[in-house]
Amino acid sequence: MKNRKLIFRKNRLDHLLLKGNKVIIRSLRRDDIDKRLAWQKYPDPLYSHYNPPNLGQREREEWYFKRKYDSNIIYLAIDNRHHRLVGFISLYEIDRVAKSAWMGIFLGYEFTDRGYGTDAILTLAKYFFEKMKFENMFLDVASHNKRAIRCYLKCGFKYVGTKYKKHDPRTKLDIFGDDRYKNIRKYFKKEGDEVLAQFDDMVLTKKMWLAQKSHTNRL
Ligand SMILES: CC(C)(COP(=O)(O)OP(=O)(O)OC[C@H]1O[C@@H](n2cnc3c(N)ncnc32)[C@H](O)[C@@H]1OP(=O)(O)O)[C@@H](O)C(=O)NCCC(=O)NCCS
Repeated sequence: MKNRKLIFRKNRLDHLLLKGNKVIIRSLRRDDIDKRLAWQKYPDPLYSHYNPPNLGQREREEWYFKRKYDSNIIYLAIDNRHHRLVGFISLYEIDRVAKSAWMGIFLGYEFTDRGYGTDAILTLAKYFFEKMKFENMFLDVASHNKRAIRCYLKCGFKYVGTKYKKHDPRTKLDIFGDDRYKNIRKYFKKEGDEVLAQFDDMVLTKKMWLAQKSHTNRL
């Protein structure tokens, strides 16, 4: 029943269009993956897992259908005001009973540091708390990812804990050997052959959202 409700509500998101100050959040389209593949690559190896491999037509279809029709994920596109695709934002582990979900976001490399991430999160948060009537938006972020953390703090998120997760195997880095990583080594640990990365859990609650809303003139 819970799943049927979610599917029903998800269908209603098929024509979603949320306008922010700098971005528009909209439902996913088939050609979004083609546009994503044309983005510049992240030059920093720490973020290389955001660089997708080249995908054939069939894999592009799969990419689209998996995200568009998975009833456990709400996967949305972020356009800038010139209708250029700049990123994706998603909700997952959606729990309608607890009224909570986890949020994930990434932008194309050339679109970072322009305020798009902050505006996209604030725009989705308004819909999440006010229209979807949810109470808690969670996220986790690698502790070394200071740009993302700064963005989340600007949006009003607060830290609620830390944990270790397997370092993304797509990011093949010699964290403990390569001196370029000496400043962020403290955020990693070794367990046997495995490298684990420290992550921060953060939350934005409806209460925090409403308090923030009352002392900013945004939204
Ligand atoms: C994380 C991400 C979504 C943020 O979106 P964004 O549009 O780049 O962020 P914004 O421009 O809104 O805000 C970034 C802030 O971080 C600051 N910043 C940038 N690099 C930084 C660094 N190395 N250390 C600290 N702060 C940094 C910026 O100056 C800005 O703060 P300011 O407005 O006070 O000047 C985007 O950068 C991204 O997609 N990064 C790669 C993928 C990723 O990390 N996803 C998140 C995984 S949890």
